[in-house]
Formats: sequence, C-alpha cells, structure tokens
Amino acid sequence: MAKKVFVTHQLPGKRIHELSRHCEMNVWMGPGLLPSAALRTQLTGCHGLVCLLTDRIDKALLDQLPELEFVSSMSVGVDHIDVQALSERGIPVGNTPGVLVDTTADTAFALLLAAARRVAEADRFVRDGQWTAANAWAPEFFTGKDVTGATLGIVGLGEIGQAVARRAAGFGMRVLAWSRTAREVPGVEMLALDELLQRSDFVSVHVALAPQTRNLLDAARIARMKPGAVLVNTARGGIVDEQALAEALAGGRLSAAGVDVFEREPVAADNPLLRLPNVVVTPHIGSATTLTRARMADIAAANAIAALAGQAMPCCVNPQVYG
Ligand code: GLV
Repeated sequence: MAKKVFVTHQLPGKRIHELSRHCEMNVWMGPGLLPSAALRTQLTGCHGLVCLLTDRIDKALLDQLPELEFVSSMSVGVDHIDVQALSERGIPVGNTPGVLVDTTADTAFALLLAAARRVAEADRFVRDGQWTAANAWAPEFFTGKDVTGATLGIVGLGEIGQAVARRAAGFGMRVLAWSRTAREVPGVEMLALDELLQRSDFVSVHVALAPQTRNLLDAARIARMKPGAVLVNTARGGIVDEQALAEALAGGRLSAAGVDVFEREPVAADNPLLRLPNVVVTPHIGSATTLTRARMADIAAANAIAALAGQAMPCCVNPQVYG
C-alpha cells in the first residue's frame, strides 16, 4: 500500500510531481498558512511530512503521530522543528541548504545598503508628497552612511556569511567575523564577538537560531556596538533582542537597521521596530527568488523521495538516525 505523505503548502519546482508518483500525497491548498490544528488533523496516519518553516513540529504533535517516518522541510533553518525529539524516535529531518546561499546574501546586502542610504525612508518621503521645493536637494538632505571602505562584522561565518563577505570585498570593506566553529577564510579577520561589535560599522547576522544563539545580540551586546553602527538580520528573529535594538535605534546610538526576520512572524503591528523610520523591514524574504524557491522545493521533494525509498536523505540535519 502506498505510504501517505502530507505537504503543507503547494510547492514550486518539478520534483514535487515526481514525489506524488511515489506516495499517496495530500497537499494543503490554503488559503494562507496551515493552522496548527489542521496540521495535526491532516497528519494523522501519515508516514511523511513535507513542511515549511511556518509549520511548528513539536513534541506534542509528534506524540500523536506514531506512523511518522520522515520530515522534510523546505528551509535551511530547522528551528521550527524539534529535531532532538525526532532524532530520539529515529526519524530523519531533511532541509534545503546550499541553493539559497547567494540569494540570502543578496538580501542581506540589499538591506545593508538600504539601511545605510535610507532607501525605504526616502521612498516613503517621495510617495508621501514631501519632496517639495522647500524640502529638496541640499547638502545634508537624506545623508546616510558610507558602505565603501567601512568595516563589516559578520556574526556567523557559514556559507551565507562567507557569501556576504565576498560581496563586502567588492565594496572595499574590511571584513571581520565571529563564528562558533573555527574558520579560516581569506580576507576575513576572525575575532571574539564583543571585539567585532566594538569595531564594526555594519554588523550582519548569519547564525542559525539554536539554544546557544537565542538572544545572542542581547541588550548588553547591542550596547557594545560602535556608535552609529548599522545592524542587519536576515538569519532569524530570536537572535537579536528586538526591544533593545529598537531602544538603541530610537536613542540614536545605532544609526539604522535592516530586519527581515522577527521573533514573532508575521510581525505584530505593535512591534517597536515598525515605528522607527531608520529601520528597513521586509517579511522574511531572504531566499525569495523564483529560482531559489524552486530549487529549495526540489531538494525538499528529493529528501522525501529518498526517505520513501528507504534511503538516506541527500540533505539531512540528523544523519545519526541512519546509524
Ligand atoms: C529561510 O529562512 C530558511 O531557513 O530557509
């Protein structure tokens, strides 16, 4: 009998059609995000799950899914999944690394440039009809911060952090980095986190969200940042203390921020960062290009196809389950 696989969203790419030939596949057709109660109902009796980073896969849910044999997430981050609980049950968890590296680094750089040069604020200014003869080109009009020649501190020098370093080199930036694992990357000076924060004009966050990185940039660390620095976060909410960041930006200690990811998503309307003109916000779009999303979906489908065939997933975050 064909195994049952639940897919929590319609996916792009070609391999999802191939997956449908290997199982009895049920796809949530929306509209919008799948509510957690519906996830539980839909998953009952399923052997496999293909999910997004918006689906929370926790212990309580797993306890109700004795048939579950694999989870494949169309994301590189797996902080929405209790990987430890799945590993204890011997269940592989797939993710989609590699293909989104350049796309996400591009987003980080877009936010860095937009925050430095006040692009979103200037866009609002023009659209709001504020660009008048009385309020126009002048020596100090919309002045921002130079990127070329400045110092960039990269927090987390994995694949995406390294891709950001390559872009920074093109802008003649001095590149500093801190990483939890020792790394040697040409043109990048490795430093302790506090020293990096003190020396960087721009700080870009690229660590995964894990218990060790939750609140990594807390109020004390934000207070150590160079006066007038710019912070960019395209990694995950929960790594940066949003309240402390908002206070540092409102008080003028930091000059700007670019934020793509939030502690709570979709972001709450009363999030203090949304009230600040010097913050550029985007709705978690780091990997959002048509091609990259199709490639991510293809890997997610390939992981599921391998699991259904009793093979190791090509991209598995807990390969220890294979012994
Ligand atoms: C995006 O944030 C991802 O984890 O793929």
